[in-house]
Amino acid sequence: MMDIQKIGIIGTGYVGMAAAFAIFQQQLATELVLIDKNVSRAEGEALDLMHGQPLVGRCTVRAGDFEDLEGAGLVIICAGVSQSSPDENRLDLLKRNISVFEMIARELDRYAPNALLLIASNPVDILTQAMQCLSARPRQLIIGTGTYLDTSRFRTLLAQYYDVSPNSVHAYILGEHGDSEIAVWSSAAIGGLPVQENTINGREFDVEKMDTLFCRVKNAAYDIIASKGHTNWAIGLVIAGILRTIRDDQRRILPVSVRLEGEYGIENVCLSIPTIVGSQGIENHILPDLNEDELKGLRLSAQTLLEPLEALNL
Ligand code: LAC
Repeated sequence: MMDIQKIGIIGTGYVGMAAAFAIFQQQLATELVLIDKNVSRAEGEALDLMHGQPLVGRCTVRAGDFEDLEGAGLVIICAGVSQSSPDENRLDLLKRNISVFEMIARELDRYAPNALLLIASNPVDILTQAMQCLSARPRQLIIGTGTYLDTSRFRTLLAQYYDVSPNSVHAYILGEHGDSEIAVWSSAAIGGLPVQENTINGREFDVEKMDTLFCRVKNAAYDIIASKGHTNWAIGLVIAGILRTIRDDQRRILPVSVRLEGEYGIENVCLSIPTIVGSQGIENHILPDLNEDELKGLRLSAQTLLEPLEALNL
């Protein structure tokens, strides 16, 4: 078990505090340092969370600044603007968030040079790659939440369709955490049965229904933002889940955003592929076979990301 007792969260907006609550409630840290340009909000969030200790156990939560991150094992970055309208996609946020990341990279290299970094800000794939370029720490210590959230949504909807537990659904969304993501149907399975070739729990694999299901996954953020103005709860649980995998060296295979160096014929772009995550961050990649359409979709996803990356000279 890696000794990540002290965790930093940069950005105490909806996502940052959903992550803080999940980490606090699951007792994944003994110290949480909350950093936000709105210091008063960070202080209020810290106090409010701290008062729950008798219900979950000891965990010191305090507002701080970058120098308070000394000794942190992992820093979660949720800072920057997030989608605020269904008409805005994640790539639209890049210009406003990249300058925030330049400042954050400098401060983290100064005060927490050896910490693992978990990026949740959007566009997460590009910002993960930006942080890998901006920070001096090894790339395997810088991970993006990527399509883990999309995969969670995918497994949830498939579980509903087949009336089974989401934990019994093995299926991935890979590529960009965004409009070009792909559903990997060819290796999707429930209880070891490939969904495309089997009737499972009395349900057929209906192509039209599955296309609709994938659209609901891909557009979930837009639908939720149209309803409540932001998303936060599931991504907060995703962040806590990745932290637990690192803290306990679980070596789970997660669809998180990592730099591809030739996998699937894709070079020098961060996007999500199945990755073994443990106490040292990115341990290795698992490359499931993709059919022709899936491989084409993944490469198209990479191309979607390469354009803004080139514009940033990353
Ligand atoms: C979402 C945000 C976290 O998909 O990108 O809800």
